[in-house]
Amino acid sequence: MRGDAHLVLIGMMGSGKTTVGRRVAERLGRRLRDSDAEVEARTGRTVREIFETDGEAAFRTEEAQALAEALDDPEPVVVAAAGGVVLDPDNRARLRDAGTVVWLDATPEELARRVTRGSHRPLLGDDPLTALRRLDGERRPLYEEVADHRVPVGGRPLDDVVADVLTLVGAPA
Ligand code: S3P
Repeated sequence: MRGDAHLVLIGMMGSGKTTVGRRVAERLGRRLRDSDAEVEARTGRTVREIFETDGEAAFRTEEAQALAEALDDPEPVVVAAAGGVVLDPDNRARLRDAGTVVWLDATPEELARRVTRGSHRPLLGDDPLTALRRLDGERRPLYEEVADHRVPVGGRPLDDVVADVLTLVGAPA
């Protein structure tokens, strides 16, 4: 596949993939591709609208397409991959071939403190902590399976997390 030197950030909602991705992309002089933003741009609908009108399975189909397109980019890019991409075995296979996959990891308790309930996070519902605990239980083994590296993010300044990620890809922090 082309573009085999991407840097892909994975992890749960609220782990900081987009924020860290933006900073890292800037430092590396690469483009940031955010899978949720690309789903919204491709469909002209918000993630919440797709969930509410067509259901989660329809969203996952759009998400897989957006991820595949981002990873097919001929230029090395930074990809902020939405939290649920690891659920799909084909996505996991793509991620394993994509370049460097970094898991931004935090406990559900930490995530519940950090997460914002935006228009793209319908799964958080009225009780984000309970939702995050359930999702963490389902997904932790999948993040472990595809990640080349795990960076803890709980209780750490953004600058430190960015520096860790840059170091992992051999860039001076
Ligand atoms: C989801 C994460 C969200 C968004 C959607 C579903 C998930 O993206 O794709 O709400 O299943 O974890 P972020 O991880 O960017 O918040």
